[in-house]
Amino acid sequence: MMLVLVLVRAAVLLVGLAVSCSSDFAPPTIDVNLGDEPQVRWMPILKVFESDFLKKAAQEVIDSTIPKWLHKVLRPLIKVSEVLLLPEPYGEELRGMAAHFGTSLSDTIMLNFAYEASAFCTSIVAQDKHGNVYHGRNLDYPHSVLRNLTVNVIFRKAGKTLEKAEDFQDAVLRLSKIPIITGVYYIVGGARAGEGVVITRDRGGPADIWPLDPLSGGWYRVETNFDHWLPSPAKDHRREAAEKAMNATGQEHINMYALYQVLSIFPVCNGITVYTTIMSGATPEKYTTLVRPPDCRASSG
Ligand SMILES: *[C@@H]1O[C@H](CO)[C@@H](O)[C@H](O)[C@H]1NC(C)=O
Ligand SMILES: *[C@@H]1O[C@H](CO)[C@@H](O)[C@H](O)[C@H]1NC(C)=O
Repeated sequence: MMLVLVLVRAAVLLVGLAVSCSSDFAPPTIDVNLGDEPQVRWMPILKVFESDFLKKAAQEVIDSTIPKWLHKVLRPLIKVSEVLLLPEPYGEELRGMAAHFGTSLSDTIMLNFAYEASAFCTSIVAQDKHGNVYHGRNLDYPHSVLRNLTVNVIFRKAGKTLEKAEDFQDAVLRLSKIPIITGVYYIVGGARAGEGVVITRDRGGPADIWPLDPLSGGWYRVETNFDHWLPSPAKDHRREAAEKAMNATGQEHINMYALYQVLSIFPVCNGITVYTTIMSGATPEKYTTLVRPPDCRASSG
């Protein structure tokens, strides 16, 4: 399953947190206007990255994810099937990117699958003693080229951020019900006390809804890449490490900075962690994303 997270009342400003890792850096921010035609709405990317760099990066991810022989076999197949299979507006968006970034359409499509096949994440939603809700996540991805390709994207429609949801309840309802193309975990953090939930999705609807429950000790929820009611695989200790660190921090000491520290502990932060995001729906101006150095373990002390 893929992991996605959603912040209700999306973030607009970037404010740097004081952090111990000196080589962490804040990625650039672009505006994507959903009122623009799908073909051109991703053009703002070219304001922050050279197209040569994008082409090289795309090649690197494909080379390291897809064996050469398979790439050769897939290319013509994808060319034929994309016309039939890509739902709009994603088809138009990918066609636009391929045309403007100078990559072939079949490679652009393959890149999207490569991402889904190899992305790992750790996400935490937590509430402090005063009812403030914090939300943090790491993106783990085994291609270091992504470090320099990370951008903050602000989606706007008619000048407003976040397309449809009225409030937390509405967002949870929409995310639970809309049909999607793959199973997914949604981690949603709201602006008010109690507004935090992990939604485990099947394609057709919700498989499980796991809200914060601070009155019964559930003041945080950790979601990695596995259904939370099942044990995580023997080789993956991110969930246990994150829970241990949250327990050690305690509800009385949780805040944005403490959450960043939890997401910096090995193996929650590890050799393939690309970035850490910390946010809180009530204070969108404090949204922070920092790109992690290639060896998070060495610098997280
Ligand atoms: C990525 O960005 C960092 C920090 O700006 C820079 O030091 C590094 O050389 C860049 N790496 C590549 C492959 O562009
Ligand atoms: C964290 O604390 C909760 C509640 O006391 C406990 O059930 C859980 O086992 C602890 N987790 C870890 C990894 O220590």
